[in-house]
Amino acid sequence: MCGIVGYIGEEQAAPFLLNGLSKLEYRGYDSAGVAVYDNELHVVKSKGRLSVLDGILQGGKALPGTVGIGHTRWATHGAPSDVNSHPQVSDGGKFAVVHNGIIENYLELKNHLIRRGVEFVSDTDTEVVAQLLEYYYRNDVLDAVQKVIRRVEGSYALGIICADCPEKIFAVRKDSPLIVGAGQGENFIASDIPAILSKTRDIYRLQDKEIAVLERDNIAFFNEEREPIEKQLERVEWDVDAAEKGGFEHFMMKEICEQPEALRKTISPRIKENKVVLDDISLTAEQLRDVSRVFIVACGTSYHVGVVAKYAFEKLLKIPLEVDVASEFRYRDPILDEHTLVIIISQSGETADTLAALRMAKKSGARVLSIVNVVGSTIANESDDVLYTWAGPEIAVASTKAYSTQLAVIYLIVLYMAQELGVLSDKERKEYLDDLQRLPDLAESCLADKEKIQYFASRYFNAGDMYFIGRNVDYAASLEASLKLKEISYIHSEAYTGGELKHGPISLIEDGTLVIAICTYDRLFDKMMSNVKEVKARGAVVLGITTHDREEAFRQEGDFRFCIPKITDFMLPSLSILPLQLFAYYCASMKGCDIDKPRNLAKSVTVE
Ligand code: AGP
Repeated sequence: MCGIVGYIGEEQAAPFLLNGLSKLEYRGYDSAGVAVYDNELHVVKSKGRLSVLDGILQGGKALPGTVGIGHTRWATHGAPSDVNSHPQVSDGGKFAVVHNGIIENYLELKNHLIRRGVEFVSDTDTEVVAQLLEYYYRNDVLDAVQKVIRRVEGSYALGIICADCPEKIFAVRKDSPLIVGAGQGENFIASDIPAILSKTRDIYRLQDKEIAVLERDNIAFFNEEREPIEKQLERVEWDVDAAEKGGFEHFMMKEICEQPEALRKTISPRIKENKVVLDDISLTAEQLRDVSRVFIVACGTSYHVGVVAKYAFEKLLKIPLEVDVASEFRYRDPILDEHTLVIIISQSGETADTLAALRMAKKSGARVLSIVNVVGSTIANESDDVLYTWAGPEIAVASTKAYSTQLAVIYLIVLYMAQELGVLSDKERKEYLDDLQRLPDLAESCLADKEKIQYFASRYFNAGDMYFIGRNVDYAASLEASLKLKEISYIHSEAYTGGELKHGPISLIEDGTLVIAICTYDRLFDKMMSNVKEVKARGAVVLGITTHDREEAFRQEGDFRFCIPKITDFMLPSLSILPLQLFAYYCASMKGCDIDKPRNLAKSVTVE
């Protein structure tokens, strides 16, 4: 996510802004900038690390002024560059804006303003906010802010300063966090608490569409109707380290819990009037009809997304789809030609094997569509089309919210292709889209009962081996669940298809062996119950992941169960993985492992 900091007081703003932004670096970013008022608005911003900006500003000394806003940018719209960095400034130079979030209708608003002669300089969605503020401004900034938040759709945390009103900072949010810090003769805004802890522990948490107006000795709050509102002051007791993780002990748990919100950010901008809208790709219906086969190529967790995708593609589109790990794909001779679509999946966008596979595919004439989290990464830049997951930076080595949002993008692609190829009736498409739009809330419900998983982990975190079994999409989920467990808890774990047990692996089952049976795919539930009986007969302890309607049936056979809501079959892994991410986390935590930085692993494997 982007980082926002603002200062108004008696001291120089720039040094504080730089220090505050440094406390938000953990959030991940690709550029940084500040705007400070000193007789006029001065904006200094650059692509790259905060140290680049710090050097230009000589630690802040080069930019005098006691009112300012700063920003670290995690690119969503517009690759990392100086001009796309924030603050974004309006055409007439009156407004400087920093933003965290996604303005979903920015293209429509941008075209509206261009038709009225406004000149844009960046590729960002944020610049639309700055331009709109100046467009609506009639010597009343609060009025302009009100008008802007009525027009923009999407998520935003905004810090705003106006050259005509330099004794104030304006702040407003919707769906992206923003806090106001209260000091003595100075006040602050920030995306997150670490940025201002050096100055104050007294904060106000802005709620959606609440507007804050900060002066040196006063903070006023208004609702979107411009009615003054009273807010509760909160005293922060966290230390800085805990604050960086939003109060969570580890980034991994923070990111597990961010999944519902990340899914909303991935899905919401891409479903309009009951249709999938993928503005970001140029793949036409004609090109889609020309596709004779599809490959999905990735590594690790991203590969496991491809295994789920296979079920979705072949069920809905009847297009043959092959899923391969990049390190194999790049060294075998896959049959590729101009009628092949290769979908590359990568959180980091820098994985060496995956990048090599992409280059091989392009050389063969195949069309490459990539699903990436890091905007402007090498894989994104070298693909014919890229769909960003917009999950925000994933800091923990073990991928969680990237997996979930990658799956969501796969569902969007499959439904988009089905829509463009006309293989779904309107009723069928609506049912799928309704389920996809329910997914974030259903994910929230699955994460609500952490204690149950924590209790189960406390019983089995010392196990030497654990086995995950499933069939169809449940097998795909078991691959990811097994990887999560082994990579952070170092417990040996394997995933098998239920039907394969009798062909060898069942010899591993003995008294007390822990088996986790994922049985959410209803059509094969009875087959999975047979597998549960098989392993129970050999002494296994079985934890089931199943749907609520099958809880009673599972209770007859298994030892423990965790239930998830029903949803479209190929979307089930998006829910069944959640308790198993938590299970891996709690096992690793109880074993005292380094959860965010597991041994031998890197967040981005940029070497072969
Ligand atoms: C997942 O938890 C691992 N950290 C790892 O398997 C990862 O998914 C793999 O290295 C691929 O990374 P990428 O998605 O950035 O390409």
